[in-house]
Amino acid sequence: MSATVPAFVLGGTGYVAGELLRLIDAHPHFEFAGIASDSRPGATLAAAFPHLAPAYPTHTFVAIETLLAALGPRQDAALFCAAPHGAAAGLVARVLAECRSSGLHIVDISADHRFRTPAEYAAVYGHAAADAAQLAAFSCAVPEHVAGTPTAHVAHPGCFATAMLLALVPLLRHDLVEPDLYISGVTGSTGSGRTPAAGTHHPDRHGDFYAYKSLAHRHAPEVRAIAAAVTGREARIHFVPHSGPFARGIEITLQARLTRPVTGAEVNALIGEAYRDCPFVGMAGREPRIKDVAASNYARLHAEVGDGTVAVHSVIDNLVKGAAGGAVQWMNRLFAFPEDSGLRAVAAGWT
Ligand SMILES: NC(=O)c1ccc[n+]([C@@H]2O[C@H](COP(=O)([O-])OP(=O)(O)OC[C@H]3O[C@@H](n4cnc5c(N)ncnc54)[C@H](OP(=O)(O)O)[C@@H]3O)[C@@H](O)[C@H]2O)c1
Repeated sequence: MSATVPAFVLGGTGYVAGELLRLIDAHPHFEFAGIASDSRPGATLAAAFPHLAPAYPTHTFVAIETLLAALGPRQDAALFCAAPHGAAAGLVARVLAECRSSGLHIVDISADHRFRTPAEYAAVYGHAAADAAQLAAFSCAVPEHVAGTPTAHVAHPGCFATAMLLALVPLLRHDLVEPDLYISGVTGSTGSGRTPAAGTHHPDRHGDFYAYKSLAHRHAPEVRAIAAAVTGREARIHFVPHSGPFARGIEITLQARLTRPVTGAEVNALIGEAYRDCPFVGMAGREPRIKDVAASNYARLHAEVGDGTVAVHSVIDNLVKGAAGGAVQWMNRLFAFPEDSGLRAVAAGWT
């Protein structure tokens, strides 16, 4: 294994791509090798991400063809895909056709490789994406929930899903809850990406707080499928997302009926034990706050018990643990680097 692996990014000027650039710059083993932009090839990275100018003073976006040409002959290469769902599968297909090296590993942060079959994907997204052979080269899970590297390439479960799965997988694995999981989640505005739209634009979100897509969000079936794959249990995910008036971070609150009498201390001990060897996941000791983790790859959890039910709270940064950081964590594992490489920076505290 090389000491340094070239890292490529798809998804150009997007928020997640920007976070990938920030993390790659600080990474001891991944070295920036190129980023493709659909809309701004030739523009400097600093023009799209002024805060990254000290790290990338003169670097420019390239067209996808240029990136594919640079990728083609390489042995080891890390490719992070932060393109929108629907576009990502086609871009990944072109990469796989161009670079047939077994030293290529892809982590797709979009939804396009999260399901196991094209039909499951189409049922949720309403259109086809990757074919069956391409999907078979990917698996999808939070890294804390599976051992080793099941496939050459990995699909990141996404931001809301990461926060939810961290809370619910230990409960399901210990048969601690009935299979109806009621989950309320709040996300910051970066969760909606760079392009303003009605309902996600700052003047709409600022100073307001509202639910959207109640019990109909596309991440619920993704979470159900991933949870079933890693726990062997089918749960019903009743998910209500909310728009929070802040830029980054996610808080989710899961509630369920307990299958047996336990105390809050016992549930916290059980969850803490499940993540004992996981450097990024820990117990908060109280209801966790987004500022405990904002801009970091850490997650914090806490449970309370009352009247035969449990509430588990989980916080992550949507752009780091929920996207770019989780992807780097997977890529570290795919290249057999220490899993926390480049990811140990703690939360900013005040954002
Ligand atoms: N934001 C989050 O918190 C979050 C969390 C988890 C997962 N994700 C997923 O990560 C991906 C990126 O999210 P984001 O928030 O960074 O979105 P974003 O800010 O909207 O950026 C996506 C970028 O993809 C590029 N793009 C747009 N259409 C394209 C096309 N047809 N072909 C190729 N590239 C295209 C654009 O950059 P160029 O024009 O420069 O190419 C765009 O800026 C999405 O799949 C999203 O679902 C996001």
